[in-house]
Amino acid sequence: QEALSGSQIFSNSCAACHINGNNVVVANKTLKKEALIKYLKGYEEDGQGAIINQVTKGKNAMPAFKNRLTHEEIKSVAAYVYKQSEKGWQ
Ligand code: HEM
Repeated sequence: QEALSGSQIFSNSCAACHINGNNVVVANKTLKKEALIKYLKGYEEDGQGAIINQVTKGKNAMPAFKNRLTHEEIKSVAAYVYKQSEKGWQ
């Protein structure tokens, strides 16, 4: 079976709460670069690694994905989120 792209994984697993890089649960904690710098621990030092960490473990109302996605899928969706945040989710 062919691997899903980061964009496909985002649509399937993340977009319900993070449509267009927003956050429908905690409005200020978006996936936009400024919010990632402000709220996501380790983002400035580690970029994608900090996203992988949060997706793997979850935080507060965000579920952990370690039993829902493979590590390869988590890396792939984190790369997509990182790229989109750099592009401003255009
Ligand atoms: C926060 C990514 C799925 C709810 C975040 C953050 C990232 C992220 C990078 C940090 C943003 C920030 O602090 O500004 C993802 C990815 C997902 C996913 C890549 C899919 C694999 C979901 C889902 C939900 C959700 C399905 C809702 C059920 C939240 C909430 C926060 C958050 C509530 C804020 C957590 C807090 O600090 O209290 N997400 N997310 N996320 N996400 Fe997700």
